[in-house]
Amino acid sequence: MPSATGTPRVWAVILLGAVSFASKCENIDVTSNEDAFPIEAHSLLPPVYPDDVETRISVGSVVQDTDPQPIEFKHSVHASSVEDGGLGMSCEYCHSNARKSKHAGVPPTQTCVGCHSMIDPGGREGLVQLNTYIQESGENFGQPIPWVKVHDIPDFVHFNHSRHVKGGVECTDCHADMTKEGVAVRAPDMTMLMGWCLECHEEHPSVDANYGADADLRRAELKDCYTCHQ
Ligand code: HEC
Ligand code: HEC
Ligand code: HEC
Ligand code: HEC
Ligand code: HEC
Repeated sequence: MPSATGTPRVWAVILLGAVSFASKCENIDVTSNEDAFPIEAHSLLPPVYPDDVETRISVGSVVQDTDPQPIEFKHSVHASSVEDGGLGMSCEYCHSNARKSKHAGVPPTQTCVGCHSMIDPGGREGLVQLNTYIQESGENFGQPIPWVKVHDIPDFVHFNHSRHVKGGVECTDCHADMTKEGVAVRAPDMTMLMGWCLECHEEHPSVDANYGADADLRRAELKDCYTCHQ
């Protein structure tokens, strides 16, 4: 097996080709207005909420502490920019469903194999563990790595990544700046509670940008109980 003694910079150059395809997805179509805004009388107008998030209906639903991850995967190494010494990979290279479906998804081991079958672990713990999963694979491109879920909202809430990402809401509007983190963490100010969702639905500038004259109607729809509790 060839060993990768090259610096991350050399890797980064090799990577740019692969990754730039993902960044081309930046200016993608904002979903059409008709599809975004079905005018139906779902429910009565929602009540006005107090400003204080704590006093809103809802209890914490996100587990505060999670079990350690099976491998200490470092987001910073892979996703921070080349100038910052990282590999400059786009989030969507690994979380490729974020723009396409409800779940952003966590990459299969196969995504790691492409690069890591060529990288010498050199005794480093994370890489040795990863190689164990890769080598156990046989023909299946990797044994699944049992990653522990970090964010979790209750199943009775309707949430869809695709809608947000296509509408122009950034990963960092809802998640910690993962280019600076190791394994995923929850940003303390992003509670994932109902009040947090509603607050952004009231304020996010992409609603004006995408809906123009209909922005107020769209905002009303985004407050409607039915939007999130269908
Ligand atoms: C596009 C190539 C590429 C992909 C895909 C990739 N990696 Fe890496 N990874 C690297 C490079 C390059 C390094 C730095 C290697 C070095 O320092 O010798 C690295 C480093 C690591 C390290 C060691 C980090 C440290 O310094 O402790 C771990 C662990 C790791 N990767 C896990 C993963 C896992 C898990 C996946 C799949 C989810 C993955 N990688 C996908 C290229 C990649
Ligand atoms: C509007 C807020 C919001 C945005 C924008 C957002 N996320 Fe999420 N993300 C969430 C919520 C809420 C969950 C928990 C979903 C659940 O439990 O069903 C989550 C879960 C995840 C998960 C866990 C797997 C899954 O799909 O449930 C990953 C990975 C993830 N997000 C990555 C991303 C990436 C990468 C981006 C940017 C491309 C992004 N997210 C943009 C709110 C957001
Ligand atoms: C090389 C692949 C790779 C890249 C690039 C990557 N991630 Fe991840 N991401 C992972 C893996 C593997 C996990 C599962 C381990 C963990 O939770 O840290 C994960 C987990 C997450 C989670 C937590 C999911 C949960 O369980 O709720 C979020 C949020 C997330 N990533 C966001 C991002 C964002 C934002 C970016 C871009 C800045 C990004 N990721 C880039 C591989 C990647
Ligand atoms: C950082 C801002 C932000 C946060 C936080 C946020 N959203 Fe949104 N959400 C938006 C925007 C902007 C839209 C409108 C997207 C569009 O139509 O272009 C939207 C749209 C939606 C829609 C409408 C989807 C559709 O098909 O019409 C649902 C459902 C939704 N959000 C659920 C949630 C839930 C549940 C949470 C909390 C867990 C949440 N959002 C948190 C910004 C946010
Ligand atoms: C933007 C999305 C969104 C809208 C709109 C929304 N909710 Fe929620 N709701 C959530 C989320 C996320 C949770 C789960 C997290 C929590 O408990 O705060 C939740 C939880 C709840 C719960 C359970 C609280 C608990 O303590 O278990 C009730 C009841 C509820 N919502 C009622 C409503 C009603 C009534 C409306 C309309 C006035 C409404 N919601 C509008 C996102 C939303």
